Amino acid sequence: MSNICVIGTGYVGLVTGTCFADLGNNVRCLDIDPERINKLNQNIMPIYEPGLEQLVSQNVKAGRLTFTMDYQEALKDAVIAFIAVGTPSGMEGEADLKYVRSVAESIADIVDQPIIIVNKSTVPVGTGDWVADVVTKRRAGKPLDFCVVSNPEFLREGSAINDFMMPDRVVLGSVDRSAAERVSQLYATLRCPILITDLRTAEMIKYASNAFLATKISFINEMSNICEELGADVTQVARGMGLDKRIGSEFLDAGLGWGGSCFPKDVKALAHMAVLHGTHPQLLQAVMDINRNQRRRVVLRLRKELGSLNDKVIGVLGLSFKPNTDDIRESPALDVIHLLQNEGAQVKAYDPQSMELVANSEKQLKLCENPYLVAEGADALILATMWNEFKQLDFEKIKASMKQPVIVDGRNLWDPDALSKMGFTYYGVGRGVKVNGE
Ligand code: UDX
Repeated sequence: MSNICVIGTGYVGLVTGTCFADLGNNVRCLDIDPERINKLNQNIMPIYEPGLEQLVSQNVKAGRLTFTMDYQEALKDAVIAFIAVGTPSGMEGEADLKYVRSVAESIADIVDQPIIIVNKSTVPVGTGDWVADVVTKRRAGKPLDFCVVSNPEFLREGSAINDFMMPDRVVLGSVDRSAAERVSQLYATLRCPILITDLRTAEMIKYASNAFLATKISFINEMSNICEELGADVTQVARGMGLDKRIGSEFLDAGLGWGGSCFPKDVKALAHMAVLHGTHPQLLQAVMDINRNQRRRVVLRLRKELGSLNDKVIGVLGLSFKPNTDDIRESPALDVIHLLQNEGAQVKAYDPQSMELVANSEKQLKLCENPYLVAEGADALILATMWNEFKQLDFEKIKASMKQPVIVDGRNLWDPDALSKMGFTYYGVGRGVKVNGE
């Protein structure tokens, strides 16, 4: 059992702190947002993450997990402090470290016991050294026994608890191997490979992993565009590819592309680091361009089918950047909606979890209470996010209520032949010969 402090209670910090508590540690989570801390102290979650509410409640009741805004209280007796605050993209795509700096300085101001400072936030390569320098300078004259360890997270939203408790690997980087080994003890019972490297290598593993996954998705999306012209079905191409152990079947789903708070930010940040250090990330640039273009292809498709989109009514199913999360950051659905609205289309939409978040930011968007109201009177219906509840809709009812039976299946969720037989004009992503002629 260790006394741990986690600073930042967002998607990463809250899951990390709760899971460490569930493993038997005494965890204090700190945030500077009073509303967030008040809600957490009433067991109201600031994010939608399956299973999180119950896990938080269990560990708070067991006395292993507390939430506070007070740095003194949070860091009291802490032997390890995790920095899990946001690193938003700056103008050039660089990661903004102002929150990381603020936390490092607060730790330096308050702590007098030996402490290991762990970077859990995704930070540019070299940040570990920079945090050590920030703390040393802040403590000028009052030496502190501390060490910085990089411990990047590989949590996917919607499966974060599972990803934490059953990781493929734990990566730890530090100038002091014993500090990394001390942190590795927190993960010992998870029985997974633990890789200990230097700081920069650990930081780079995170960026390279996310950039590779984004590349894999942009690759299959490029293949889908070629399949569309050559008459092949990309879903079967992906299946044939994925059976090769060297390729693997995951992250080969063609569609509207990737979004979220990680891939877009991390790929941009990695490309920025590369350029700053005199290399030319052509592949990363192409990966981002392909991804951006996937949204545009949906609008081109609809313009070809419906003519001018001005005043057309378009329904969109799904707003979150992927299923099982309420997160709409860099959501492909919202990118498509904005492109449609720019052409004068009237867009309406529904999402099982994100409606509240979207209502605040998308004033032009008509929000409907269910998928059928989205389809009612629509000239076209777009599937943007692969939520389970969209898998088996009553398409007879949908077809009867639409103005034109045009469907753009942005995630290849539905059966092209079945929908075509029902009289829909069905467009998937890379599904070979355009079903219904052409
Ligand atoms: C990702 C990484 O998977 C995780 O390891 C890292 O810690 C954080 O970033 P996340 O962003 O939560 O996790 O979602 P992920 O499941 O990776 O999906 C990212 C995006 O790619 C989503 O928009 C999803 O719709 C899209 N995607 C995923 C595809 O378009 N095709 C696929 O085959 C898989």
